[in-house]
Parts: sequence; C-alpha cells; structure tokens
Amino acid sequence: MKLIEIKNLHVNIDDKEILKGFDLDINRGEVHAIMGPNGTGKSTLASALVGKPDYEVTAGKVIFKGKDLLEMEIEERALEGLFLAFQYPVEIPGVSMINFMKTVVDARRKHNNEDPISPVDFLNLVKKSSKLVGINDKMKGRAVNEGFSGGEKKKNEIFQMAMLQPDLAILDELDSGLDIDSLKHVAEAINKLRNKNNAFLIITHYQRLLDYIVPDYVHIMNDGKIVKSGGKELAMELESMGYDDIMSKN
Ligand SMILES: Nc1ncnc2c1ncn2[C@@H]1O[C@H](COP(=O)(O)OP(=O)(O)OP(=O)(O)O)[C@@H](O)[C@H]1O
Ligand SMILES: [Mg+2]
Repeated sequence: MKLIEIKNLHVNIDDKEILKGFDLDINRGEVHAIMGPNGTGKSTLASALVGKPDYEVTAGKVIFKGKDLLEMEIEERALEGLFLAFQYPVEIPGVSMINFMKTVVDARRKHNNEDPISPVDFLNLVKKSSKLVGINDKMKGRAVNEGFSGGEKKKNEIFQMAMLQPDLAILDELDSGLDIDSLKHVAEAINKLRNKNNAFLIITHYQRLLDYIVPDYVHIMNDGKIVKSGGKELAMELESMGYDDIMSKN
C-alpha cells in the first residue's frame, strides 16, 4: 500500500485556482523533493494536505495510509502521522516547548491506543531529539517559537518532528534561514530519522540541500501541477539550466 496517493488535486484560495490537477504517490522509505518557480503552489500543496483552513479542495482525492485524508480534521491528520514543517513557523506565546511537546506526544499515543509516555521516557526522548537536531536547553524552556530567530524556529520544527516520528514529513523550505553549519546539522538529523517506514516530501529551491538529503525522486512543479519528474540528477540539471530550459526540454 502506498503511504500517500494524491490524485488530480485541485485547490482554490479565495476562488482562485492554485493547484490544478496535482498528482503524486509516495511509498514508505522514499524521499521526494519538489522544486519549482515562486508562486507555483508548493506551499499551497503542503497547507492543503495538512488541512489548513481557507484551502478549498474543489476536486481530486488524497488517500493517506489507506484512509481518505480530505475527510479528516486538521488535528486528526497530525495524529495519523502527517507532519508539516512550515516555511514560516508560527509562534505559540505562553506555552512552553516542553509542555507543548508532552501534550502532542501523548495525544498521538492516545490516538494509537497507547498509554501516556512515562516522565523518564519523555525526558530521554527530549534529550535524544534535541541532541540530534542541535538545540540547547534554554530554548526548550521557552514558549514555542516566541522570539526565536528564523533559524531557531526551523530547528525547533525538526526537533518536533524528531519527537513525533511522523509517517510523512513535509519540509517546506527547510534551507531558508539556516546557516551553513545548521543546515548540515539539521540535514544529518533528517538522514538519521529516515527509515523504511517513513517518508519525506522536501520543498526546496536549492540543489545544495539535496546534496545533504539525497532524494529518491525530484519533481518540478509549475502552475499548480507536476510538469517533470526524475531522479536526483534532475535537480542538478535544473541548477545548470534553469526552469525555462528544463521545462521546454523533453
Ligand atoms: N492566502 C492567500 N490568499 C491569496 N493568494 C494566495 C494565498 N496563499 C497563496 N496565494 C497565492 O497562491 C499562489 C501559490 O502560492 P504558494 O505559496 O503556494 O507558492 P510557492 O510555490 O510555495 O512559492 P515560493 O517558492 O515563493 O514559496 C501565489 O500566487 C500566491 O500569491
Ligand atoms: Mg512556498
């Protein structure tokens, strides 16, 4: 069974059609990258999949782990194991990272008919995940993303991902805002989190990220749908040719 099947997805924002028949299947164990010009609908795809309000699906279907994703509420999609690291992460003032993570980890466990995580296991998970991603103890005590720098917010997203171990993680422009060392560190963390049961959808403008996190497939998106797919070499071709040339070449 495919992890996710996206068929002929059409999405409107304010009555304007942004996704115009988007198709993509992802199996467990795979890493897919999506590249494409600004304003093409990459972030819209990510938002529509996680169920952000204001993204109106007008046609198509999405099957996630054998279930109809589009029928699920936004929270349910997360509990089922879909995770999105936003291009611009949101702040949650007044809620400490640790309390927030305890709540979401337990919510996911409850959804899977598991007991709440024990305090010892939780602290070990926090320790392991923060070490993996390279975030410090001070950040963990602060409110979620409040006053975090752009790069700290990005790291925090990956920390949350490490804690939650989603089936499918969508990473939207992970590389924007991270310095070179942080990017390498976070990419290594993602490589360690990769396994045969999960999958990643990486949205990026730059080949460089894909040197660190090597994708199985690269898709080029334009005007609301995928126009070309290939292996990791497609990203390199794109870097040297640019979108116009690569999209006109068959
Ligand atoms: N809330 C909104 N209201 C109106 N238009 C929107 C909204 N969100 C997105 N759009 C429009 O939808 C189109 C696709 O936007 P989207 O953010 O998905 O592009 P993108 O491919 O992620 O681009 P980038 O590479 O710049 O991040 C753009 O023309 C954008 O202006
Ligand atoms: Mg975007």
